[in-house]
Amino acid sequence: MSTPTKLFVVAGVILGLAVGVSAQSVPTANPVVKVVRVPVRPIGTCDGRANFEAYCASCHGADAQGLGPAARGLETPPADLTLILVRHGGSFPSAHVRESIRGNHADAALREMPEWDRVLRSVSRSDQEVDIRLINLVHYLESVQQR
Ligand code: HEC
Repeated sequence: MSTPTKLFVVAGVILGLAVGVSAQSVPTANPVVKVVRVPVRPIGTCDGRANFEAYCASCHGADAQGLGPAARGLETPPADLTLILVRHGGSFPSAHVRESIRGNHADAALREMPEWDRVLRSVSRSDQEVDIRLINLVHYLESVQQR
C-alpha cells in the first residue's frame, strides 16, 4: 500500500494549489477582495458525501447552502446547492449539475469554481474513478435538495 499513499500525498499538493489559485483568481478591478486559502484534505474514497466534505464544503458549506469558510474570498457567492431542484421546477438536472462540476459550463459565473474534472483527475487513479466520484457527488447533491 505504500505506492498509492505516496500518490495521494502528491495529488493533495496539486489539489491544494488548484483551489488556492482559483480562490485568488478574482478580477483585479476589485482590490478589496480578500484572498482566502483553505487547506484541502486529499481523500482516496469515492463516496459522494466524503468527496463533498473534502472538496466542496470549503466554498459551498458543509450543509451545501453556500456559506463555507472560503466563500468570503470569492466575488461570486457560491450557489446554495440545496436549491437546485427548486430552481429547476422540481426536476433534478443531473447532467447539467455534472457538467457544472466538471467545468464544462457555458455560464461565466462558474469561472470562480475550480474545474473539478481536472482536479478530481489529480486525485484519482483512473478515468473510471473520476466518473464514479462525479456520479456520487451528483447523487449526494440530489439527496440534500430542499423540497
Ligand atoms: C473555490 C470555491 C468553490 C469550490 C471549492 C467549489 N465550488 Fe461550486 N461553485 C462556486 C461558485 C463561485 C459557483 C458559482 C455560483 C453561481 O452559480 O453563480 C459554484 C457553482 C456550483 C454549481 C452550480 C450551481 C447551479 O445552480 O447551477 C454546482 C453544481 C457546484 N458549484 C458544485 C460544486 C461541487 C460538487 C464542488 C466540489 C467538487 C464545488 N462546487 C466546489 C465555488 C466553488
